[in-house]
Amino acid sequence: MIDLGPRLLVALDYDNAEQCLKTVQQLNPKDCRLKIGKELFTAAGPSIVNAVQALGFEVFLDLKFHDIPNTVAGAINSAANLGVWMVNVHALGGERMMVAARNALASFQQRPQLIAVTVLTSMDASDLAGIGIQETPEQVVARLARLAQQSGMDGVVCSAMETAQMKQALGNAFLTVTPGIRPVSAAQGDQRRVVTPEQAIQNGSDYIVVGRPITQAADPAAACAAIASSIRAE
Ligand code: C5P
Repeated sequence: MIDLGPRLLVALDYDNAEQCLKTVQQLNPKDCRLKIGKELFTAAGPSIVNAVQALGFEVFLDLKFHDIPNTVAGAINSAANLGVWMVNVHALGGERMMVAARNALASFQQRPQLIAVTVLTSMDASDLAGIGIQETPEQVVARLARLAQQSGMDGVVCSAMETAQMKQALGNAFLTVTPGIRPVSAAQGDQRRVVTPEQAIQNGSDYIVVGRPITQAADPAAACAAIASSIRAE
């Protein structure tokens, strides 16, 4: 089996660089990679990516690009120039947009993993109906994941409850990145359908995303190390 490196991605959902770095300085790049999303990136910009990379961490830039193909290709090129390890787009941007994103990486020797978001887990059937989509969320997820694969994406963000189906439909090499993870001891917060880190790995998740159970723990270093070792044992 190929070595995926640290499979724990810590979601740094902070609104400023100082607080973020205070936590990151306690973590070990052997245990985890870091996910930087819209809140932190909008507040702190590319310099926070450079700062955590300088501390030895690889970065998943979770900006979920969704725009015209030319603009998304440019954004992906900028992300690759930042040296990030993983970046993502919305599959709803369509095949031409995803192909443009993939082509933007052609000239990079060490390119980021390119991941698609299918349907946001915050959306249910009535939300989809509101934007004119009559299928169930499951049907739309399956359709968009296939389109993402055909368009050259390396994998998808999905629930750890969907990983097995995803792998069965699209093959084991198609990566699954799964949020909604809660260690048994942690509070659920606003996540509704949660899976433990060990169960997610057993289900076939390649990478698990964990935010608040680490960033809001009394001892983030210990919380991170504990999850990292629990999934190494799987
Ligand atoms: O703190 P928590 O572990 O819930 O953080 C999960 C992270 O994963 C957040 O950054 C959230 O935006 C992201 N995410 C999610 N569910 C999705 C996609 C992304 O929770 N379907």
